[in-house]
Amino acid sequence: MDEKASFLEAKRRSEELEAGIRTNPERYRVLTGDRPTGRLHVGHYFGSLANRVRLQETGVESFIVIADYQVLTDREVASDIAGAVRGLVTDYLGAGLDPEKNLVIFPHSHVPELNQLVVPFLSLISNAELDRNPTVKEEIAASTMKRINAGMYTYPVHQAADILAVKGNLVPVGKDQLPHLELTRTIAKRFNKQFKLADKDRRGVFPMPQALLSEAPMILGLDGSQKMSKSRGNTIMLRSTADEVAQAIKKAKTDSERIITFDPDNRPEVSNLLLLGALARGCKPEELAAEIGDGGAGVLKRVVTEALNDALTPIRERIMRYEAEEDYIREVLRRGVDRAREVAAATLEEVRDAMGMRF
Ligand code: TRP
Repeated sequence: MDEKASFLEAKRRSEELEAGIRTNPERYRVLTGDRPTGRLHVGHYFGSLANRVRLQETGVESFIVIADYQVLTDREVASDIAGAVRGLVTDYLGAGLDPEKNLVIFPHSHVPELNQLVVPFLSLISNAELDRNPTVKEEIAASTMKRINAGMYTYPVHQAADILAVKGNLVPVGKDQLPHLELTRTIAKRFNKQFKLADKDRRGVFPMPQALLSEAPMILGLDGSQKMSKSRGNTIMLRSTADEVAQAIKKAKTDSERIITFDPDNRPEVSNLLLLGALARGCKPEELAAEIGDGGAGVLKRVVTEALNDALTPIRERIMRYEAEEDYIREVLRRGVDRAREVAAATLEEVRDAMGMRF
């Protein structure tokens, strides 16, 4: 399937899956993941965290893998990975993810049974398949590394192990992750075909994971650049104070047109602010624009600042509370690792059975 066709197919399937989760949450196990490369900002929140919180509230079981080994694929050194992992968990809990609600958070470095799966999986795909992964190609093009390491080419296989070790069957992802999910399905299919369990219906070990494409809004940087990123200083972090939010919005780029309209193609900066304000308020950007009318950039900024601060205040307060509770954060990780190891160990047992590797 080409990229466009697989995107449209995933989108159609996602709608069916949403209906399935509402009626039978017990049939699904959600698996998502992030690299621990820094604290989270509002782009992460509206792009994926809010969706994870929503899924959690349906009662479906979720696993979040923190892909700490994957951090090393696109940089020469990574300092304080443990601190980055704890910071990420703090932001998750601040955003409303709740380990008491059927949610398991674990760093994959601590689940040897998961990492063990990478070895047999590597033999199920070809170098050529790894080489033509469009997301990996883009990351290589964007990389400033002197040499591209083998981890860069093979991390999608590791990602397949993240998903399949816990038998995640529902993977909420953005479009850029679809090639990795396709590879995961290929690995699962080939494994199931080549190695079968000895039970009476010769069952395959792995379920086929499905992508759940979220309607992730594309949030630009406040300077109008394509992406919010901390290194460009164009973000609003989840832990920014109310004052910092106001300052960041004050500095945000707009245009000189007094009448505020939502027109992403011609007025990207104004539209981005409207989108942020609307997401924060839970309304449509067009409605917010109509409300501001001919108030110009001044009113736009005041309205968006208020909306963001209303939405971010409870998140910020929780983050501050969890920042003072590092022991609890460690405890969440410890419990997550225990549960992930339990599930992954059972999967690895089945893998050894199916491969006939019992001595
Ligand atoms: N590659 C993903 C990213 O860069 C992170 C990730 C690792 C992931 N393992 C995963 C995402 C498993 C979904 C499922 O964002």
